[in-house]
Amino acid sequence: MKVRIFPAYEDNYIYLIEDEKGSAILIDPSEARLVLEYIKQQSLTLTAILITHSHADHTGGVETIKTLTGCLVVSAQSGSIGLQDLHVQDGQILDLLFPIRVLSTPGHTLDSVCYYVLPSPGQPGSLFTGDCLFIHGCGRLMGQPSQVFWQSLQKLSALPPETLVYCGHEYTEENCRFALTLEPNNLHLRQRLEEVRRQTKQGLPTVPSSIGLEKTFNPFLRTESESIRRALAMPPEAPGWQVFAELRRRKDRF
Ligand SMILES: [Fe+2]
Repeated sequence: MKVRIFPAYEDNYIYLIEDEKGSAILIDPSEARLVLEYIKQQSLTLTAILITHSHADHTGGVETIKTLTGCLVVSAQSGSIGLQDLHVQDGQILDLLFPIRVLSTPGHTLDSVCYYVLPSPGQPGSLFTGDCLFIHGCGRLMGQPSQVFWQSLQKLSALPPETLVYCGHEYTEENCRFALTLEPNNLHLRQRLEEVRRQTKQGLPTVPSSIGLEKTFNPFLRTESESIRRALAMPPEAPGWQVFAELRRRKDRF
């Protein structure tokens, strides 16, 4: 499986996953032109579009691409872009080019789902997270309870550490800077920020990350961490979702 990354708009990512036979699946096409050109150039057959949630900056290209290619459009039941052929539910396995498990991850929106391409011999799984999990951060809460979002992130955190993480936006540098406000003396985090800055300066995407790296650097997956709780002045007995809620409040003001 090959994953091609298309930067779009200011900081969006569109992903195209290809098999060896020239078939492909698109994830969150915010725009159509870029990917249609590539698909034509490479003579690929587009099988499906997977939508992580219904925000326009993840779905803007869907109508044009569907009209021109006739591909299947997949999204959550509660998604509302009006072009879906297939509504998916938590735990469902899609048998497209590869077996893909749907993980329902409400929080950023009610209709948020992540797509987990299952591991195969010699290849780790790949997780497409939309605006649920970012590299070293997470999406904004938009009307959902903190507890619900935290549970969704816990679900992702339980995947194997080598799972590759492909998210919907390039926010990694800002997320690292926020994480450092909590742990200014975390040397690993400082080194990580430098690495991210080097990549960003060269115009390189910081995706993919991995679940293991996220559990090391992402404060929203580290709600049990003593040093994070100390930084927030929250006691060890506070439930994880409350730590998450406080982190999210602070990040919103960052
Ligand atoms: Fe979004």
